[in-house]
Amino acid sequence: MGMHQKGVDPTGQTNESQILTSFGVPLAIAYLPDPDPLNLELRNLFVERAAQGDRYSNPEPRVKRNKTLFESRFNLFEWPEPCVQKLKAFCMEQLFAVIRELNGYGDDMLKDIHYALESWFHITTNTGYFAAHNHPNHAWSGVYCVRHDGDDPDTDSGKLTFINPNLASNMYVDVTTARLRHPYSGAPIMLRLKPGQLVLFPSWLLHEVMPYEGNTERITVAFNARFRYVGNQVL
Ligand SMILES: [Fe+2]
Repeated sequence: MGMHQKGVDPTGQTNESQILTSFGVPLAIAYLPDPDPLNLELRNLFVERAAQGDRYSNPEPRVKRNKTLFESRFNLFEWPEPCVQKLKAFCMEQLFAVIRELNGYGDDMLKDIHYALESWFHITTNTGYFAAHNHPNHAWSGVYCVRHDGDDPDTDSGKLTFINPNLASNMYVDVTTARLRHPYSGAPIMLRLKPGQLVLFPSWLLHEVMPYEGNTERITVAFNARFRYVGNQVL
């Protein structure tokens, strides 16, 4: 964190010619240090639970997916296993750092922000995909990568893909707008996650997972967080 530009005037009221980046969507990226031992523990736990089928699988899948993607129930971060609790702590520490940074809050505010979570894991094998969706009634979502290998890294296999919210800008395209550079184009952002990588984003942002074309597994943990402010400062 800490790369966020502070003090930018969104109205450009200076005497210089300039191009304002007028709106933005934060995608926060963080890396768990030395992730391999934890990821191996998580992987073994998830594979064992997924093998038990209905007992741990999401009973009410809503988003379109196929049978080569296993989705757990949404209470993962309540599991007592130390590897799960360690990952939860990392995710929430990073999320609160982002909330602090982007809102300009200090400890006095953060201590009064309570949260509730949905959290789950995916194990994806060959051909598995997860269609476009967002996460209603939550503020922030995250995806953590436990494993992604066994496929060709030069393809779109298993990429977490964020759909550009400026999609309406594609209603009319001519030569003057066809090659707009990032962040002005309508292109999606496609991420091949590395083991240990965490991506945090606003829950309203549409995203999907491209088909995994490998011969091992892609394993991720995801969560949605909603918050309640219990302090008495006027917001
Ligand atoms: Fe999602």
